[in-house]
Amino acid sequence: TQKIIIDTDPGQDDAVAILLALASPEIEVLGITAAAGNVPVALTSKNIRKVCELAGRPDIKVFAGCEGPMEGSLFTAEYVHGATGMDGAELPEPTMPLQAQHGVDFIIDTLKAEAPGTVTLCTLGPMTNLGTALTRAPEIAARIKQVVLMGGGLFEGGNVTPAAEFNIFVDPKAADIVFKSGVPIVMMPLDVTHQVLTTAKRVAAIRALGTPLSEAVAGWLEFFERFDEAKYGTDGGPLHDPNVIAYLIKPELYSGRHCNVEIETQSPLTKGMTVADWWGVTKREKNAMFMRDVDADGFYALLTERLARLPAK
Ligand code: BDR
Ligand code: CA
Repeated sequence: TQKIIIDTDPGQDDAVAILLALASPEIEVLGITAAAGNVPVALTSKNIRKVCELAGRPDIKVFAGCEGPMEGSLFTAEYVHGATGMDGAELPEPTMPLQAQHGVDFIIDTLKAEAPGTVTLCTLGPMTNLGTALTRAPEIAARIKQVVLMGGGLFEGGNVTPAAEFNIFVDPKAADIVFKSGVPIVMMPLDVTHQVLTTAKRVAAIRALGTPLSEAVAGWLEFFERFDEAKYGTDGGPLHDPNVIAYLIKPELYSGRHCNVEIETQSPLTKGMTVADWWGVTKREKNAMFMRDVDADGFYALLTERLARLPAK
């Protein structure tokens, strides 16, 4: 099994990613840290616990992380995800505890306690917690197996500005620290996620599982896609964060190129842009696996099969 820490800002698609991880025996979730992103951390740390309880896993350790980006103030996305961050399904208030430890300390302590090269960091939101951990304890970089992240875009452009994708845009400084850390990186950018469309047929297949959990997932996907479907004119909207987890289970669903990726942190026009040297026009060091293509039908087959394994209560 692969040991992972999930850093996340649910977010309907984050919620589905967490469910996919908890449903998959290939993965051991050491803990989940809440990021500030789609909504503030007070809400994301609560939403994570709602999702764990939905999956029948109140034993998962959940930690609150940083309240805002390493520089500047927090930009949130209620305009996409609704006021709760997870509009589209009504879940009960969680009763499982939030851990007292700060998420950044949990990341540092866990990486120091586990054998080097065994823990994967999965970031599904702005990378503030990981950027802060790497700044405070740079020695953990050599102990991280890999960072698999949802963020960025190249040929697809951005979704917050023409140049920037939300997760990188919210905390470009943290992203810059991660991309310069020397840790192996796998990126799931918009180039991939815009191919993983929540078509009516795919959502219907999830709903047909017939459990309260599958109904919640279908409700989330339908709420979340409303925003993007109109914008892109597609059948369904993109599904972002679960690709990070699907990659760990079935990497063969994805293909891309190992190349240099740098983060624009300064320009008001292109702040948060992931400048990927896809064509190798510079001599800059290759630091990230930039995914570009995905077997979307294979992804939905995996997701649906895994959701069926979660408790049917
Ligand atoms: C990313 O931003 C958030 O709105 C989603 O949860 C995803 O992580 C997509 O740009
Ligand atoms: Ca997210």
